Parts: sequence; structure tokens; C-alpha cells
Amino acid sequence: MYYFGVDYYPEQWPEERWFEDARLMEEAGINVVRMAEFAWSLLEPVEGDFEFSWLDRAIDLLSDHGIAIVLGTPTAAPPPWLMAKQEDLFLVRDDGVRITYGLRREYCPNNPLYHSYTEQIVSKMANHYKDNPAVIGWQIDNEFGSRCYCGICQGEFHRWLSERYSDLENLNSNWGTIFWSHVYTDWSQIPVPLSTNDHNNPGSHNPGLNLDYYRFISDSYVKYQKIQVDILQRMCPQHFITHNLMGFSYKLLNYYDLAEDLDFVSWSNYIRTMWNMDAEYDPSNAALAADTMRGIKKENFWVMEQQSGGGGWNMVAVPPKPGELRLWTYQSIGHGADGIIYFRWRTCLHGTEQYWQGILEHHGTPGRRYFEVAQVGRELNKVGELFSGSVNKPQVAIMQSYDTRFAFQIQPNNPRFGYEKHVQDFYRGFHSQNIPVDIISEKDTLEGYKVVVVPSMYVLPRETATLLERYAEAGGIVVFTARTGVKDESNAVVNEKLPGLVAKMCGAEVEEYISMPIDDDNYIQFGLPELEQGFDASIWADVLEPNDAQVVGWYTKDYYGGKPAATLNTFGEGKVIYLGAMGETAFYDAIAHLVSNMAGIEPLLETPVGIEVTERWLDDQRLLFLLNHTDQNHNIKLSASYQDLLSGAHLKDQLTISPRDVVILKQD
Ligand code: GLA
Ligand code: ZN
Repeated sequence: MYYFGVDYYPEQWPEERWFEDARLMEEAGINVVRMAEFAWSLLEPVEGDFEFSWLDRAIDLLSDHGIAIVLGTPTAAPPPWLMAKQEDLFLVRDDGVRITYGLRREYCPNNPLYHSYTEQIVSKMANHYKDNPAVIGWQIDNEFGSRCYCGICQGEFHRWLSERYSDLENLNSNWGTIFWSHVYTDWSQIPVPLSTNDHNNPGSHNPGLNLDYYRFISDSYVKYQKIQVDILQRMCPQHFITHNLMGFSYKLLNYYDLAEDLDFVSWSNYIRTMWNMDAEYDPSNAALAADTMRGIKKENFWVMEQQSGGGGWNMVAVPPKPGELRLWTYQSIGHGADGIIYFRWRTCLHGTEQYWQGILEHHGTPGRRYFEVAQVGRELNKVGELFSGSVNKPQVAIMQSYDTRFAFQIQPNNPRFGYEKHVQDFYRGFHSQNIPVDIISEKDTLEGYKVVVVPSMYVLPRETATLLERYAEAGGIVVFTARTGVKDESNAVVNEKLPGLVAKMCGAEVEEYISMPIDDDNYIQFGLPELEQGFDASIWADVLEPNDAQVVGWYTKDYYGGKPAATLNTFGEGKVIYLGAMGETAFYDAIAHLVSNMAGIEPLLETPVGIEVTERWLDDQRLLFLLNHTDQNHNIKLSASYQDLLSGAHLKDQLTISPRDVVILKQD
């Protein structure tokens, strides 16, 4: 069975309506529902009075319709009676303001009182539902995040630091606190990085302190989550435990750490929302998010919130066009989803998210989105069995790191530079050529990859450098870019020529680095037989000095015109490329093409722009997902014979795919 479901809030609707909801769900092929993650006020209306009967009735009803239940622990939205107990329960922002009640996620992750109320509600729920046969698993809290800068966090930070550094002397030397006379003589003197008297300059704290604070906050959520994981594992050993992460773009938590205690990763996939109404539709966004989520545990994931309509709060977002909900659903599946749950069943009448479209409109009668979802339900009923458990097998990896992300949040280096955008640019280069990619961490194993791209690994751990060196020696192809190896793990600049720990494998060093002006670009001319093109170069220019490496690209303008901009080194059995500048889209396409060719990696299929192809393997059986993200019909040439799983037809030479349509092929 393939898990196909909705996020449902029975508590927001009169009970008489639940019957119709359950009936419509069953008719649409829904077989799982996530519930209760924002229902604390109803589960414990008065402190110590637990009220599960309403949820029991909802679960029984759904279960009668063949629907399984994932329960959310309700800690993301604490009830007013709890938050009224203590000012300290509220999180303090980096500008020192303690937030007020009224949204959700108001709590400080380190508050002991919050921990004890958390333990209580989670244990009560776990105890009540541990033997309910309809319940299959748990989502802990909801979309962890937000940094707190309160006094309790400060105390915990001191404890965290003393574990990391043992003594103050060690901390002082790692952070280099002699700069501006910050030498700490007692742990209690260490501040949290609240905004300083130079509040226009957010990165003004000591970079070592700042990076450690970001790590500490991330660890605080991991620890908070663990409180809940321990209870659920102990009381409900037969249920799975997950949390809904926020894709690639969320950057305040180390998701590799957070996921360690989970059985599998699930996440929220929103494509068209009020926050991106001015952005061009780019299917590589959701693809990158999915590949990042799959890469966290190197395992398939669930989408706990798959978009079901336009996503708006105070603005009404552009709604998905006909076919897009289905297209996006199969995109998620093609990238590794073993479960799809739409957010949300029905658009709500009250509250902040009145304009976040559910499958059903406010009025609750089925419309085009319902019928589209029901179509997917029918299809998955037929072929979904093939998907769950089948795996993606990319030969290219892009390495990312949350430490590097945190460090760039502190010091972006250049006003035009965005690490996430840089990773995405590379990703898009492969994605547009239908070459599958894994997004991996800097601590991951590199086994099975022919190419590893390492964009701007600014904080470069020694073990990562060693890993990459061994990988290249053994025949791997590695691509580095500017701002690699600049910092050690304490966010201090390394005391050697860049790219520091990987200079040897690059066979080249950075002779001079240039942060480019905002309104002026340079140009890189490549001079390889396979790549003779030139591209606009921007943001950054590392002027390179080759040792063993071959120079393959040169700057053409300004005082460093004619100097090396890109190198290629043979290292052991492998190859190492260093790119000194950031480029335009065509630059990343060309590099992706170049290294795929070097590695002998073929695109899954050659398709027109806007047709995405992904691949999942069920043992030796190859499944191809063709996704038409355009508004036009397209013909696609096939190089083998396939069965079209949805229509049953056998196809050999070519097929036509309609606008926003999906074709799933099983190779004969
Ligand atoms: C997130 C949350 C949901 C909902 C949606 C829409 O993904 O998890 O509860 O708020 O966004 O805003
Ligand atoms: Zn706090």
C-alpha cells in the first residue's frame, strides 16, 4: 500500500461534518490522516484535565473508513493557560524583544517548565493511544525553528560551551578573544549574540561565539525533540516517529542532527505561496528540497504537507493550475516520497491561515482540487505499490553543510553572495539535464558517487578534507568553488593559503581573492577542448596560482584579466576542479555537463526544457517519472521500450506528454 493522505483538523469543524469528511476522504483514496498537532487547547483545556474523547471519536470514524492515523504531539502551539504561567516561557528575539502570545512556536526551547509540560502532554497522549490499532505513528511538534536569546538559553549555552571547550583558556584561544579585549575569565561573562550597539551590522559579534551559538540553538531543538522521542519510543515501540522538516531552504537548524533520532524524515513541500508570487516558477526548487530531505538519512521520506492549493495568510496566493497538484505530487514521489499527505483537507474559516487553500474550499463541497487529488488516489491505488521502498540512485552528489550555512549567515562575505543560491545553481545545472543528484552532508560517505560537487565549503572540517582527498585519489571527480576552506571549525580564518586543507588536492592556491563590486562583473574564458565557452563571472574572483594543476579558465577583464580563474588537477586516479568565481546559469549548466561527461554519466533522457525526469529503482526494475512542468505538449524520444504504468500502453520510440501531465514508465 502507498500512504496517501491529508492533514485534518476535526477540532476546527462541527462534529456533524466529520462523517461527510470521512466519506469524501475514502472516496478520494485517502488512507492516512495526520491530526492533533495544534490541538493542545482541546486535549488539555484546563491544566491537568485531559480530554481525549473527541479525538477518539474522530479516529474511530476515520478508521471505519479505512484510514490510518499519524498523531502530532501538540507542543508547537501551547495553550494560553500554560504560557500565562511564566514570562520566561516566551522566546526572546535577537533584538532582545520577548515575543508575545498570539501565533505559535512562542516557546523557548530550553525552558525547564516547558519541558515538564511537554513531558506530561506527550506521555498522556502516548499512554492513551499506544494500543489504538488505527494509530501508526507520530509527528513530533511541528516545523522546529526560531532562535531564542533569553537568559535561560544563555545559562545553557555556558554549559554547552564548557562541554565543548573544557576550559576557558581553550575557548579564548579558539575564538581569538584577545581581539577587542574579549578575554573571558568566567563562563558567566559570555554573552549571547544579541544585537550590539552596532545594530546595523548583524555580524558584529565574535564569529567563533556566533557560530557556536547557532550550533547550540540547533542542539537545543535536537535535545527538546529527544525528550519527546524517548517518551514515545518507550511507550509506543510499535509506532514510527518523525518530524516535519522544511526542505532545503530552511537554514536555522542542523537537519542531519535533528533527524538522527527520527525513524524517517518527513517534510513540508510548498511550491506556490504568497511569499514567492514574484518569483518565476522553477521546478528545481522542489526537486532540490526533496533530494536534500532524502539525503538526510539517505532514505526515502514522507511529505507530511504536500501543497493542496494556493498558500496564503494575509495575501491570497496564485492557485495551482489544473494538473499542478498532481504534477507536484508525482515530483515528490519521483524524488523519493514513500508517503504523501496534503496540507490541508479543507480551507479554514478562522485564524491566521484563512487563505491557505485546502483540498476543499471554505464551503466544503468538492471542486477541481478535490477531483484532481481523487485522480491521484485512484492512480496510486493501482500502481503505488511499486513506489514505496523503491530507491533513487544518483551518481552525483552535492555536498552542503549547516556549519557553513550558519557561518555565512554571520558573514555573507559579499552582498550578492548566497550560499543556498550557489548550491541551487549547481543543482539546477544537473537537474536541467536530467542527471539525478543526492544532496549530502560534509560528514557523509562518498561511496557510489562518480562526481562530488562541493560549493563554497567555507567551514571545512579536517575529516571532510581527508574524505575528499581519499575519494579523489581513488578515482572520484571533485569540484570546489571559491570560499572553500576559509574557516576552521571555530570560525577562525585558516593560517595558510586557500583553499587551505584542500589546496594540495587542487594542485593550486588562491594567490589573491577579490570581492567583486555590486555593479561590475568579470568574465571567465574556458580553454578546454570540451569547454571553450566563456561566461559572465560575478560576486567573487579567486585569482589562482597553479602548482600541479592545469589552468583551464582565465579572467578576461580588469587588473587580473589574463590570470587563472579555474584549474583542473589530476590527483591519484581522480580529477579535481577548482572554480574561482560564481557564474551565470549557463556556467553551471556547462560545468555540470563537463563533469558528467568526464564521469561517463548519461542523462536519464534527453528532454525539452521544462520536462523533468526522475528515476526510482525497485530492485532491478527501473521506473522513470516524466513531469511536464510547461503549458505545452512535448514529444519525447525514448531509447528503450517501456510500459506506461498509468495507461498500461507499451511505448517504444517516442511519446507525447500534455501540459502539466505526468507519465510513469516501467522499463520492459
Ligand atoms: C507549515 C505548517 C503548517 C501550516 C503551513 C501553511 O508547513 O507546518 O501548519 O502552517 O505551513 O502555512
Ligand atoms: Zn531561551
